[in-house]
Amino acid sequence: MSSLDDNNTNATLVQCNPLTKQLYSLRVKPDTPFSSLVAGQFVSLALPVPNPQCQTETVFVKRSYSIVSSEESKDEIELYVARVDGGVLTPHLCDLSVPYRLWMSPQATGYFVLAEVPTADVLVLVATGTGLAPYLSMLTSLSTQQLLTRGYFKKCMLIHGVRQVCDLGYQPLIKRLTQEMPCVYVPVVSRDEQTAWSGLRGHIQQIFTPHLFESFTGYALSPLHAQVMLCGHPLMIESMQTLLAGYGFKRHRRKNKGHIHFEKYWDKA
Ligand SMILES: Cc1cc2nc3c(=O)[nH]c(=O)nc-3n(C[C@H](O)[C@H](O)[C@H](O)COP(=O)(O)OP(=O)(O)OC[C@H]3O[C@@H](n4cnc5c(N)ncnc54)[C@H](O)[C@@H]3O)c2cc1C
Ligand SMILES: NC(=O)c1ccc[n+]([C@@H]2O[C@H](COP(=O)([O-])OP(=O)(O)OC[C@H]3O[C@@H](n4cnc5c(N)ncnc54)[C@H](OP(=O)(O)O)[C@@H]3O)[C@@H](O)[C@H]2O)c1
Repeated sequence: MSSLDDNNTNATLVQCNPLTKQLYSLRVKPDTPFSSLVAGQFVSLALPVPNPQCQTETVFVKRSYSIVSSEESKDEIELYVARVDGGVLTPHLCDLSVPYRLWMSPQATGYFVLAEVPTADVLVLVATGTGLAPYLSMLTSLSTQQLLTRGYFKKCMLIHGVRQVCDLGYQPLIKRLTQEMPCVYVPVVSRDEQTAWSGLRGHIQQIFTPHLFESFTGYALSPLHAQVMLCGHPLMIESMQTLLAGYGFKRHRRKNKGHIHFEKYWDKA
């Protein structure tokens, strides 16, 4: 919970579009455009909601959201939000009628950005659910397109794990990006036995094998060739770190360079 008060609004929710029953595209316009925005960064949103401990009271709740839009969109940003059943903020946030005044951090922040990632043959972008958001920002930003054109990364592999086929968001955009850039897209569905789906099924760490990596990228799965970004579910991130460690990958730190970068959306229970 944050100590913000009722008058503390500095942005307007201008769009709240359901993409599925649980996944929403939000657009928020800050009163003052961001002075800088780096693909992969996030903002915080805050608004008053009923206090879960005492329904007659209101509390301000603040949560973080990765930015979907490119670095070029400093005056209005898109967010990709999952409505978490039983969550404190999202059931209210996703039900708001627009326009709605709320609080947003005046600048985007975060270090889950490509400037922190060393050069490599293959940039592997791994997401569960709405963890796709920062990668959409990266892939639509001119700076990333330049990194790919100049060979800082030769190829990109975007892996997205979701429950159901309908949760594979932003399909037209991803299709366009994979046509325009040296980027392969690997969707993975974990549930949804009813829908015809000829793609991969399971959890990402179950399908991510050296054979899969090599067949999609043409490179052997090795820290000599790849830098890996992981975003979303904390357990996917843990499992992928363990799996990758078996092939010699280690966590990247500024003072001790490695090959794994991650953004956990929540702490595991
Ligand atoms: C840096 C950062 C960026 C984030 N970016 C996004 C984003 O782009 N889109 C987005 O939907 N969320 C994002 N999140 C998660 C977000 O901040 C909230 O935690 C989420 O919206 C749930 O808030 P809530 O108040 O509704 O649920 P809470 O009452 O806070 O309950 C959260 C609990 O629900 C469970 N849970 C299930 N699914 C999720 C989920 N997707 N996210 C969080 N908790 C989940 C967890 O067990 C968690 O403990 C991000 C988090 C961080 C730290
Ligand atoms: N169709 C729906 O009902 C639906 C869809 C999206 C979101 N939501 C709601 O939104 C919330 C958050 O959704 P989200 O999109 O952020 O994520 P999510 O839908 O909960 O999960 C995304 C993907 O991560 C997988 N996953 C779960 N545990 C994992 C693990 N240990 N290792 C690797 N992968 C794992 C999920 O598989 P599993 O199948 O094993 O969970 C799913 O394939 C949910 O809690 C829910 O409230 C519901």
